[in-house]
Amino acid sequence: MPYSIQLKRLFSTGEKVAILSFKNIFPLETNTTTCTYCCSQHVSKRKYYKQTAFGIQKLTVRSIYNNPAQLQVSGKKEPEKTPQILHVAEREYFHDEWTNLSPKILDAVEKKLHLRNDHPISLMKEVIVQHFYKNYTRGGNPIFAVFDNLSPVVTPEQNFDQLLIPSDHVSRRKSDNYYINKSYMLRAHTSAHEHDLIKSGLNAFITVGDVYRRDTIDSTHFPVFHQLEGVRLFNAEQLFATSDDKTSLSLFEKGEKLHEKQACHTMEAAKLVEYNLKKSIESCMLELFGKDVQCRWIDAYFPFTHPSFELEIKYNGEWVEMLGCGILQQEILNKAGAQHHMAWAFGLGLERLAMKLFDIPDIRYFWSNDEAVLSQFRGLSDAKNIKFKPVTSKQPALYHDISFWVPKEFCVNDFYDLVRNISSDIVEQIAVMDKFTNPKTDRTSYCFRVFYRHTSRPLNKLEVSEVHSALKEAAVKYLDVDGRW
Ligand code: DAH
Repeated sequence: MPYSIQLKRLFSTGEKVAILSFKNIFPLETNTTTCTYCCSQHVSKRKYYKQTAFGIQKLTVRSIYNNPAQLQVSGKKEPEKTPQILHVAEREYFHDEWTNLSPKILDAVEKKLHLRNDHPISLMKEVIVQHFYKNYTRGGNPIFAVFDNLSPVVTPEQNFDQLLIPSDHVSRRKSDNYYINKSYMLRAHTSAHEHDLIKSGLNAFITVGDVYRRDTIDSTHFPVFHQLEGVRLFNAEQLFATSDDKTSLSLFEKGEKLHEKQACHTMEAAKLVEYNLKKSIESCMLELFGKDVQCRWIDAYFPFTHPSFELEIKYNGEWVEMLGCGILQQEILNKAGAQHHMAWAFGLGLERLAMKLFDIPDIRYFWSNDEAVLSQFRGLSDAKNIKFKPVTSKQPALYHDISFWVPKEFCVNDFYDLVRNISSDIVEQIAVMDKFTNPKTDRTSYCFRVFYRHTSRPLNKLEVSEVHSALKEAAVKYLDVDGRW
């Protein structure tokens, strides 16, 4: 989508301006354009159009006399001329002012680790799916349908609205999600498919897929990870199948909302669904972690379930959160045409589970192409007795600090995305060491400590300091920060 750009200084007719760099976007591009517009006193209203896959924020231009000047985006959208097309998951999308995908993320969309043979993520998926196939059957057939190849591109309606996430909820922010444009985004959780799959008439299903969130950088966070979601619906007959007095039991009543149930559910129905949910999940965890694993349930909150719970398991003496779940809000079922049913739902992160189960110390290993990593998961059919051996003996991390003054619109996830694009995964962690706003100037400065450590090979000081210098340069170029070095 073209933007109107106002010039900060006058240019003369036909003058050549070289656009040197685009701020806030990747990759660096250069472009030469000739000004063909009138250059009377109104010249400052002249318009330039330039599109890139990642939008336009600010352009630096230089006249042929090498006189630097700023072209600034006025923010006003022009009528569409030749729209910019983005290719994501085999489809084409227009880009707009919401677009914030980076090349790194576009790359990751292609990877589909959960479909790759001999990968720890697909192994986790397989073990859980087989558990549900084996233990939940009707007439000898599995009752859970499995969807592991749904496109990660969804609408904000699917990702938020259909799950009753309020329109002003913080989780919708551009700074926390990857938007393709205003109308499409990369799913932030596999719950985004619940409504559609229920609407299609399914009573029990599992969804597995890659999900995308803009987040901090450390050993357990990566902007792409994988979730497995389970949903099971019950009508009255199914839920009360083993009760003696079926005729007097009902799923619904006009009651009040309590800690244990939604207003429209009867207490006995809510308790039975909760029991079924917890037993289903516990039996899956026992299969994964062995029969001696200790589980505990914690009350939680999700906009799409009530009551809601988190499961923690004791691992190496520590309680670790494993998944979120609950009884699906009846409004979601009603809107999907399943008003005679109740349902439970759960969602778990496959990386988190695999890291615990296999002792994988850093989430970047899942993205490694190193044979020494991949060979450890080849030809396995179950998840038992696998202990991952880190590829190098752990070298100490090398770290460098970076401090800068930030523009008003800065968000830290922009910096983390930049690091991921520049540093090709040699950054293990980033810590915010200091954030300070000068009360006189109202300017904010950050200091980050960047820890460098590769998962498979030692790093040398020179390589690290080169990457760190490139990072500084890129921060100035793309994020419009004022370096303090
Ligand atoms: N979607 C949640 C998340 O990504 C996880 C989750 C919680 C899924 C509760 C569910 C659920 O289906 O019922 O954090």
